[in-house]
Amino acid sequence: MRRKIAAGNWKMSLDFDQSKNLALSLDQKLNETTGNAEVIIAPSFPFLNELNQLTSDRLSVAAQNCADAESGAFTGEVSVSMLKSIGIKHVIVGHSERRHIYGESIDTITKKTELLLNENMIPIVCVGEELSDRKKNKHFDLVRNQLQSVLDLTPSRFKDVIIAYEPVWAIGTGETASPDQAQEMHAFIRSELKSTYGKLADNTRILYGGSVKPGNADELFGRTDVDGGLVGGASLNTEDFMAIIQAASK
Ligand code: PGA
Repeated sequence: MRRKIAAGNWKMSLDFDQSKNLALSLDQKLNETTGNAEVIIAPSFPFLNELNQLTSDRLSVAAQNCADAESGAFTGEVSVSMLKSIGIKHVIVGHSERRHIYGESIDTITKKTELLLNENMIPIVCVGEELSDRKKNKHFDLVRNQLQSVLDLTPSRFKDVIIAYEPVWAIGTGETASPDQAQEMHAFIRSELKSTYGKLADNTRILYGGSVKPGNADELFGRTDVDGGLVGGASLNTEDFMAIIQAASK
């Protein structure tokens, strides 16, 4: 049985007080309710340490990004070992906003993934096609290509990797992949992982991201290969994110 994940990607949306209030209210609600979902929040870099210390074990605090080099003269970058030194375990890599706005290549994302695994941290590796790829029926090829970032690992390094399928056309647009479209791609991703890692890929959590909301989370997370969600907009308030966490707890 794969334990489902509800992960909130707060992007560059909240200041310190807003982040702290949201983290504390989620933490309190989580400790008042029972539920099996693993819950992750990804606030901005400057707040990670404090939020990680203020919240309980029910809430994992993740980074949204990391550097693709170990250390040195890289102004403005934050290394994997820096994140590790403040107790962070999960890092989102290859989000489509990083790929498209900041020009991160598959090689860069592979490097980040490897650096994280070297430190026994857990990468949440995002993949997903643009609408033009889907229209040209190239979405499977594109996602297969992006998966190269996790296909050259030893099985013992691969085993904790989390994948997030986020079709770019569904991110922040209010448009969601249908549960059938999500399931179809998640099954494809799992079969690609299986061709390299065999049965191990049965345990890989594959999250769906792209306009997940309280109203669609149940149906999406109900599909066989959808193991929870990576949630942007709807993770920014307690009520909506708690409803999504409930959907991941079923
Ligand atoms: P969204 O963002 O839920 O606002 O579409 C998802 C993401 O970018 O991870």
